[in-house]
Amino acid sequence: MVPGDGTGPEVIREAVKVLQAAEARYGFSLARTDYDLGGARYLKTGEILPPSVLPEFRKFDSILLGAIGHPEVKPGLLEKGVLLEMRFALDLYINLRPVKLHPGVECPLKDKRPEDIDYIVVRENTGDVYTGAGGVMMKGTPHETAMQIQSYTRHQVDRCLRYAFELTRRRGKRKTLALCGKTNVLTYVYDLWERAFHEMGERDYRDVKREYYHVDAICMWMIKNPESFDVIVTGNMFGDIITDLAAITQGGLGIAAGGNINPEGVSMFEPMGGSAPKYAGKNVINPLAAIAAGAMMLDTLGEREAARGVEDAIAWVTSNKVRNLAAGQMGYSTTEVGDLVARRVAG
Ligand code: IPM
Ligand code: MN
Repeated sequence: MVPGDGTGPEVIREAVKVLQAAEARYGFSLARTDYDLGGARYLKTGEILPPSVLPEFRKFDSILLGAIGHPEVKPGLLEKGVLLEMRFALDLYINLRPVKLHPGVECPLKDKRPEDIDYIVVRENTGDVYTGAGGVMMKGTPHETAMQIQSYTRHQVDRCLRYAFELTRRRGKRKTLALCGKTNVLTYVYDLWERAFHEMGERDYRDVKREYYHVDAICMWMIKNPESFDVIVTGNMFGDIITDLAAITQGGLGIAAGGNINPEGVSMFEPMGGSAPKYAGKNVINPLAAIAAGAMMLDTLGEREAARGVEDAIAWVTSNKVRNLAAGQMGYSTTEVGDLVARRVAG
């Protein structure tokens, strides 16, 4: 586990509490090892991600991460050095972000109910403008030129599409996979995505319906008709942006969780919200996203029944107890929300 910075340790504590309740109830046990990566360690020792850590991470079945980002450290340093480095080095090429409105949760979209907001975004997690390719010339002069290159390989695109098609088929909801791109402007990168999408769909997934949306248009449809989505697949940058938009339609970052998945290796699960330094140490942050990340982790570890038990307990808590998911407005403290879920899981 990497509790990390800010409110990370507080939400991870609650996630562990719920995992322990699930272990007792469903009869399995998880061994845990803590890693103190993050801003505090960096400020104390200058270390961001010591080289010994990655080989150790590869030996675990799963990683649970709280949050990375510290107000006294230059933005980007820890995010790139820990979070993005883990995604790249462990080849966590899928960022799986379910979008689900839980019962009882206040939704900012008028007249939308839980059955209307229930889809999954498959965000590619290793390519795009995130690779760091680019540079700056004539820095500090009026002619300064900055470039940040968007790149995708066919291999990266294909393996992401394969995962998305398989997920759509397995999910069996509307059997519809939507590609989100920008083929009218990004005529190289999203042309590659679009061709690969249709080739693979035509060849191997004739039972899955294919749709295409430009990224700007999909933002509109995610607000207007979220019920029309089943699985959305997209590149890293668009995936980053649309999943924050999606998160607010499900009640905010307090409940949005994601999995950074390497289907052939170790995966990492995290709440989508950041380290929220202004709430750190106050016992007011919402732990449900971290608890939901724990449920995703259980599912990936093969503890399907326990995963469902935790998800049901979250739904029970949002229906019966915590209506407002915003930090400080839950009507319960961080620890109390963890207790509510853990008690429900315990049965
Ligand atoms: C996310 C975050 C990260 C990203 C940041 C912290 C680097 O926004 O996980 O969505 O851009 O991927
Ligand atoms: Mn983001």
